[in-house]
Amino acid sequence: MITRRDFVKTASLSLAAASPVAALARPAAAGASPELLIRRTVRPVVVSDYSGWEFKNGGTENAVQRAFRLITEGRDVLDSIIAGVNIPELDPLETGIGYGALPNAAGVVELDASCMHGPKKRAGAVASLQGVRTPSLVARAVMDHTDHHLLVGAGAQQFARQMGFKIEEDLNTENSRRLWREWKRRVDPEHWLDPNRRESREMAAGRSMVRDGLIGEGSFWGTINCNAIGPNGDLCGVTTTSGLAWKIPGRTGDSPILGAGLYVDNEVGAAGSTGRGEANLYNLSSFLIVEAMRRGLSPKEAGMEALKRIRANTVEARLLNSKGNPNFNIRFFALNKRGEYAGVAMYHAGETKYAVCTENGAQAIELEPLLPGTPED
Ligand code: GLY
Repeated sequence: MITRRDFVKTASLSLAAASPVAALARPAAAGASPELLIRRTVRPVVVSDYSGWEFKNGGTENAVQRAFRLITEGRDVLDSIIAGVNIPELDPLETGIGYGALPNAAGVVELDASCMHGPKKRAGAVASLQGVRTPSLVARAVMDHTDHHLLVGAGAQQFARQMGFKIEEDLNTENSRRLWREWKRRVDPEHWLDPNRRESREMAAGRSMVRDGLIGEGSFWGTINCNAIGPNGDLCGVTTTSGLAWKIPGRTGDSPILGAGLYVDNEVGAAGSTGRGEANLYNLSSFLIVEAMRRGLSPKEAGMEALKRIRANTVEARLLNSKGNPNFNIRFFALNKRGEYAGVAMYHAGETKYAVCTENGAQAIELEPLLPGTPED
């Protein structure tokens, strides 16, 4: 009788020789059955939203390139993708993530981040964190050093200080301060008196700044989600953001909430998101996508299922365009255990691409939309 056992390759991967499944026979000990060793390897893949392609912080690598390089050098997958997203976090030109991100309504940069380690089944997150340029690393420290999954506000900052992170007085740059002043100029100072009016005025002011080319649509909801699979099938994910531009202080989006802006199950896949976080908080879309992949859907089918759910659950008139569809965009990046991936969006509008890095190098790929047209239709 032939016994089988899986032999998982953990040494650094020779990409040229990589094959999804390789079998080799091990000589039988005297009197024993020969053992068939099945070595499973996966093509490493790093998938991220467009920030992972666009920003290099003055260096030579973008986030997906750095993450891919570190994974193929044998580094832990979560370490690698966090090192990747540190690039846009630190890049002052990226106004939706980390240092120099668009601040909240009070002019203060507040950051959210989460991370999940598939094989260790551990997670950490921070929300409304002020003063630390790299919230993804603080989320990682929550995962590594506490029994908890989420620290917020002043407690998160105190924790970061205790962990040795540099706490800065202000993460604004002159650019983010200038844009905040412009936003204040466009908002009725009496908007706090009427929540419904406030909502429409805040959104209208923010959107008008996108239309006028002052801020990118990606910066309005600016976020990076980056997910990867390593050569031995380890899946990890990270999401980091300054959240919605000009938000009410303390507003927390989907990014630090497990199941909303990020979810990883090492046996199934990983998913994360950028775009209107409230839609993800309501629908727990990243969890929904991973569960859909568990049922056998491809990453694209699973992402589309989440988009359809969001569309069905978006019923308030203030959130609908003239066609009765959501008047916001949202994007998902999904990766399964086989290394198959997809990037999908409610609309092919604004940021229309996402980033992928494989052994063939980094590329920006068109997102696949659920709906035609744009959120403004
Ligand atoms: N998706 C980022 C946020 O809404 O905060």
